[in-house]
Amino acid sequence: MTKANKFFVTTPIYYINDVPHIGHAYSTIAADVLARHYRAKLEDKAVLFSTGTDENSKKTLEAAEVANKNVADYTDAMAEKWRAIWDKLDISYDRFIRTSQPDHVRTVDAFVEQIRHDITKGVYEGLYCYRCEAFYKDSEIVEGKCPTHKIELESVREENYFFDLPKYTQKLIDWIKSEACPVRPEARKNEVLAFIERGLEPISISRAHQEIGLPLAWDSEHKIYVWVEALINYLTVAGYPKGDWQAWWENVCHIVGKDIIKFHCIIWPAMLMSAGIEPPWLVFAHGFFTIDGEKISKSLGNAVDPLELAEIYGNDALRYYLLREIPFGSDGDFSHERFAAVYNADLANDLGNLVQRVASMLGRYNEGKYDEVKPAPLTVEEQIEGLAFDRALEAIFERIRQQNVYLEQQQPWAKAKSEPAETVKILSRVASEIVQIGQALRPLLPDTAAKIAQTFAGGNVNPKVGILFPKKEH
Ligand code: MSP
Repeated sequence: MTKANKFFVTTPIYYINDVPHIGHAYSTIAADVLARHYRAKLEDKAVLFSTGTDENSKKTLEAAEVANKNVADYTDAMAEKWRAIWDKLDISYDRFIRTSQPDHVRTVDAFVEQIRHDITKGVYEGLYCYRCEAFYKDSEIVEGKCPTHKIELESVREENYFFDLPKYTQKLIDWIKSEACPVRPEARKNEVLAFIERGLEPISISRAHQEIGLPLAWDSEHKIYVWVEALINYLTVAGYPKGDWQAWWENVCHIVGKDIIKFHCIIWPAMLMSAGIEPPWLVFAHGFFTIDGEKISKSLGNAVDPLELAEIYGNDALRYYLLREIPFGSDGDFSHERFAAVYNADLANDLGNLVQRVASMLGRYNEGKYDEVKPAPLTVEEQIEGLAFDRALEAIFERIRQQNVYLEQQQPWAKAKSEPAETVKILSRVASEIVQIGQALRPLLPDTAAKIAQTFAGGNVNPKVGILFPKKEH
């Protein structure tokens, strides 16, 4: 972070032609960890966390048609669906932004006006993938089809407005290479640099005769390219151009998947530079999930529903798997077998059992009381702020395993009768460690942290709190 005592974290705004799968939940949960961490570190009001829906896309039109609904009804229903899912997963967003909202439309107009000096009219001829909402160069096309969606590209020839991206080539390179390391991880930074060094071209930022989209203020025949307008959502959330939006902007952190880095690390910072606004403090691109080794795809029908997992195993189990299993920034795989195995081993056994055992022994041997002891510190601040969530959890679970080993060595249950004082000492030491473990888990596994805090509080054990992670058969 820079000096400003504010922190603004964003997720991509998601397309609403479908419901969320675990890939979307992954970005959103990661951003939620950061938001919770900084709220505890700074204060509640010093953090702004946004997520939302990207609605003005041709995909929306199509999906509304398939659903046999008008666009407004369809977008309202889908946006509510997305929001309800994040609510169920206890995502602590401050703003759920929809690009159909009036303040976004106003911000887009105000912003585009600021970059108008870099916009000119020209003719675009090229191949377009409407599912990516992007043009492709011949060199990027695979067998005449979109490299991502493998569908036929549309041949488009139209008058468009262009943004002078090449003008910002050197500034972009300087920004990316700057000491603050604004594009992470390293592999993505290099990918973006290589792309820029191959040469940037002006980008078309408007679409003629398109049904859906926000009109250009000075030429309403043209709709603003959905990506350009969607990126501006981050400024809408900050409150641009009014009030103290700049205070939020000083520490803005965009969490994105690696699929959308060109938009976030090239087009977006260049647009900001053109408007005289600082580029983001950090764009962190995480990797992609496969399911049992396969790409998540609608046609394969293999999308995993995050809600279903959370309903079976609990929100924190979903968070644990996503954050612990894959170093943030790398690609990873999801499998139901692995999920169940990790759940039973780490959560039910190592953590759940520990809490249960210590609470019940204290109940049995010492009337539910323990002496608070100061354990060796356990801090994962550095790992969380470095977005190394897997390492944060690893450090905490290492401490959990140490407690289990300690109990096995000390066998307090065998000493309860012959050495009652020693038994209480051993259990007090572990109970105090558990309290600290609970505190460290707060941003990562918030339900679990809250349950631990309710179970062990100020030297007393509350026997009413249920089992943390009941064992599951798979
Ligand atoms: N609407 C644009 C983003 C605009 S942001 C100004 C968009 N939306 S999307 O619905 O397609 O979501 C893309 C994002 O979802 C990815 O960047 C990533 O954050 C997440 N993921 C989608 N599939 C994923 C995986 N298979 N694995 C991990 N994350 C994935 O692009």
